[in-house]
Amino acid sequence: MSAMGVPVVVVGFGNVGRALVLELVEGPYSRLFDLVGVVSSRGAVVICDEDGLQEVVSLAKKGEKLDKHRGFSDGVGAVEAASEAGAELAFIAIPPSYHTGEPNRSIYYGLAGKGVSIVTADKTVLAHEYDKFKKFIAEKGLFLGYRATVAAGTPVLDVARGLRGRQIRRVRAVLNATTNYILTLVEKGMSYSEAVEKAIKEQLAEPDPTIDTHGYDPAAKIAITVSELGYTTSIRDVERLPLDTINEEDVRKALREGYRYKYVAEADLEEKKLIVHPVKLKETDRLARASGITNIVEFILEDSPVIVEGPAGPAWRTAKVMITDALEYIDSRTPPEKA
Ligand SMILES: NC(=O)c1ccc[n+]([C@@H]2O[C@H](COP(=O)([O-])OP(=O)(O)OC[C@H]3O[C@@H](n4cnc5c(N)ncnc54)[C@H](OP(=O)(O)O)[C@@H]3O)[C@@H](O)[C@H]2O)c1
Repeated sequence: MSAMGVPVVVVGFGNVGRALVLELVEGPYSRLFDLVGVVSSRGAVVICDEDGLQEVVSLAKKGEKLDKHRGFSDGVGAVEAASEAGAELAFIAIPPSYHTGEPNRSIYYGLAGKGVSIVTADKTVLAHEYDKFKKFIAEKGLFLGYRATVAAGTPVLDVARGLRGRQIRRVRAVLNATTNYILTLVEKGMSYSEAVEKAIKEQLAEPDPTIDTHGYDPAAKIAITVSELGYTTSIRDVERLPLDTINEEDVRKALREGYRYKYVAEADLEEKKLIVHPVKLKETDRLARASGITNIVEFILEDSPVIVEGPAGPAWRTAKVMITDALEYIDSRTPPEKA
């Protein structure tokens, strides 16, 4: 273990958490970090020595659960583990909680309350209370990185930040790979339920597929994107029409006639209206191009749109985006050299 790195904990040891562990320990920037703890839903490991670290790495490589680690403590949560391990920065990679916000909210406020900066891939808190949480972080003099919350792998939020102060009229986006995949299967002849089942089996859909098919995931992403543009909003302001509002035969008929259905997230900033809904697009519409894990966001302003297009996920790419945030954290705490 390096003696000079930033002490970090990883909260969540699933697809993203495991990939992050490997980036932090074996990736190109590993010398900048000391992994001092890992947390899952049932408990935590505080890493005290090289053997403990290598055991976590081995579990991550094998895709095994954290509770197989010899140092696993049952019932220890993220805030307790981060304190005990002396972490300065926490990476959060836990499932979203759009209905109640918990336990995610308590984890974020708990960590920040203990003076721990945060890099997150989970959208929950920013989707619900963007301004409130950012203010809380700022008052504590902490860092919050959240590039991975929208189109992890493509810097949509960097572009949004760079457009602040401009007269944005609308945002149109395809931000959810799972519904893209489901629509492609429906175009090929499957029913929605068969397509959803296949997406779950292939670990593309969340175990609770309504997070995707009822629009919570793209609603959270459009809310965060619009807030980043300077128009603070919340997932609660986004109207959501489920994907299966359009029947399967209409999806196939559209394809035969030169159209594609896409699950589009839209924000009309003049009318203050946000919606996620299936939309019939001409094949020439650039949003109709979104396939597989490609996300597309179109910011409509002035006389020409600004378009961002690129991959979102999978887990290994998401982990790399979280490292980008962590590098920004390191830069932010390095005092500038005197001239
Ligand atoms: N996959 C991607 O490419 C991607 C891209 C962008 C954003 N994200 C976001 O990243 C997050 C993680 O995604 P994932 O694919 O890694 O999910 P995942 O494979 O389901 O893993 C979730 C992990 O979180 C742990 N966990 C659940 N509740 C917890 C709690 N209260 N405290 C500590 N750990 C807890 C789980 O513990 P157990 O091991 O005990 O079940 C599991 O290890 C999600 O919010 C997702 O939306 C993912």
